[in-house]
Amino acid sequence: MNTTKKIGLIGFGVVGEGVFKVISSNKDLKVQIEKIAIKNPSKKRDAPAELFTTDVNDILLDSRIDTIVELIDDDEAAYFIVKQALIHKKNVVTANKKMLAIHLSELIQLQKANKVSLLYEAAVCGSIPILRNLEEYYNNDLLQSIYGIVNGSTNYILTQMTEKNVCYQQALQQAQLEGFAESNPTLDVEGFDAQNKLVLLLKHTFGIKALPTQIIRKGICSISSEDLQYAKEKEFQIKLIAKAYFNQLGYVVAYVMPQFIDKESPLCTIRNEYNGILIESTLADQQFLSGKGAGRYPTTSAVLSDISALQYGYQYEYKKASNVNTPTVRQNEIIEVYVSWKGQTAIDSALFIEIDTYFKSKEFCFLTGKINLATMDSLIACQKFSVVEMPFRPLQKVAPEILLEKNVYEPLLMDS
Ligand code: HSE
Repeated sequence: MNTTKKIGLIGFGVVGEGVFKVISSNKDLKVQIEKIAIKNPSKKRDAPAELFTTDVNDILLDSRIDTIVELIDDDEAAYFIVKQALIHKKNVVTANKKMLAIHLSELIQLQKANKVSLLYEAAVCGSIPILRNLEEYYNNDLLQSIYGIVNGSTNYILTQMTEKNVCYQQALQQAQLEGFAESNPTLDVEGFDAQNKLVLLLKHTFGIKALPTQIIRKGICSISSEDLQYAKEKEFQIKLIAKAYFNQLGYVVAYVMPQFIDKESPLCTIRNEYNGILIESTLADQQFLSGKGAGRYPTTSAVLSDISALQYGYQYEYKKASNVNTPTVRQNEIIEVYVSWKGQTAIDSALFIEIDTYFKSKEFCFLTGKINLATMDSLIACQKFSVVEMPFRPLQKVAPEILLEKNVYEPLLMDS
């Protein structure tokens, strides 16, 4: 059914205004914006005044409006609006990864019960069509890992620091000015945004229902110029990486952490606000998707793609979820890291299973070694330590024959 979608737009910020501009300048889209809900009526906006309302009920209770496009940064307000919209049998397109990561299960139920669609391609990796690909294209192939740069702001900051010697604060300010960063940039730099996106990726890649708090997270705030220098000497780049993979025991491991990326990896070429995702599947092997992960128009492109998909009644089906016995994400995994610190701070070497290198000077110290991911938490909690995972070693793939013989997801994921 290809009818004109009547949209209630919630929010007129960086992306909301982008969506409005593109829709109002393209009459072929079969999309009409009926109303726009905003918080502050006194702000000057480049759109007809009669479209704006400060009462979200003017949209939720308007029976002409069949679709809500929710683009605000307040996750609690967004949750209320999206929930009400689904209850009022309106489709929802949203980019609010934090709200989705916390409330996804409930919202999926509401979508089903009310026979409408909840789409959120713009919530993960901006313009890269990752979620619909995971849902549709990779539906017949068992995915073994998903691994990538999912936050544009941190990649922008690290690129500017590495290539232009810009200091952290200045690079962050620039990311804010460009409209890449969240209103509260702590969400970006401390890895919360990547953690929320990884929750959504876990759902669409493996059918795993996780909460953000179950995923170990380390951001980029403590990366120092010495760490960048170390990376340069080794010809590595530092990137904030979100990853989820089957380990050799058949458990899914997922975490967010800065990582050294070597020249051979396609992720090494991903600069500034670009994102990149490596997908490893049992049959197709490795594939790589990249594109702009933040910013007004790249995000608008994903929102518009969802609106177009609504015109043929598209819904995520969450087919993988039905095979999975709600496993937990495992933190019992040994990883290899570089940890650095300055001054008198003492590191507890007993935390490490093995130490490979230990460098100590008056000003700066680092070590490299193996540590259990769960043990990492105490180091992560202490901002004095900078943690970077050592370069990615290709995972030993679980052989297709082994997986084909099994009822793939369920037996592999049951926690013993
Ligand atoms: N702040 C986010 C980022 C916006 O930098 O990736 C896009 O989700």
